[in-house]
Amino acid sequence: MADLDALLALEREFFTSDHVISRRGFRHFMSSPKSTLIVADIGGKVAGCALVNYRRGSKRARLYTIAVATAFQRRGIARRLLAAVEKSASERGCRFMRLEVRADDAGAIALYESSGYALFGRRSRYYDNRIDALRFEKSLSRPNPA
Ligand SMILES: CC(C)(COP(=O)(O)OP(=O)(O)OC[C@H]1O[C@@H](n2cnc3c(N)ncnc32)[C@H](O)[C@@H]1OP(=O)(O)O)[C@@H](O)C(=O)NCCC(=O)NCCS
Repeated sequence: MADLDALLALEREFFTSDHVISRRGFRHFMSSPKSTLIVADIGGKVAGCALVNYRRGSKRARLYTIAVATAFQRRGIARRLLAAVEKSASERGCRFMRLEVRADDAGAIALYESSGYALFGRRSRYYDNRIDALRFEKSLSRPNPA
């Protein structure tokens, strides 16, 4: 909860209108058994976060958001956040991670493609400014038996 203000600031740095997570939304995701929120902490600062949601009975986890503050970008933080939420989803028994990304977000698309995600669909005019969403999916490896 101590990271709440910093997480809101991070979301607002990049996302607008219907795709921004509210204070109430973050509180919900932090306490929900159907979500995993991982924060990248660098020197006590919130450098980035990734949020995954799960649905009961589904083997597919959904990456709801991932963001790294501008000052901390291109240091491999998003790649590590992605690996961390994939591990968490895999440990919960999920077999796949899915996500949507703006079709014009070349940086994020490069991140996903180089992290093993494959394009499988498109949602037309998904974002509020009528940009299409590209849909990506990755098979998650099974966790090692304890
Ligand atoms: C997309 C985002 C999360 C990447 O975070 P990051 O910590 O800078 O990413 P990483 O340093 O882990 O980069 C991993 C790879 O992603 C790709 N990548 C990341 N940013 C890129 C950019 N601006 N241009 C091109 N490729 C990029 C590269 O392949 C990079 O590997 P490399 O540095 O070895 O070339 C970050 O730019 C961000 O928060 N953007 C705004 C929010 C957003 O668009 N989120 C995605 C919504 S679906």
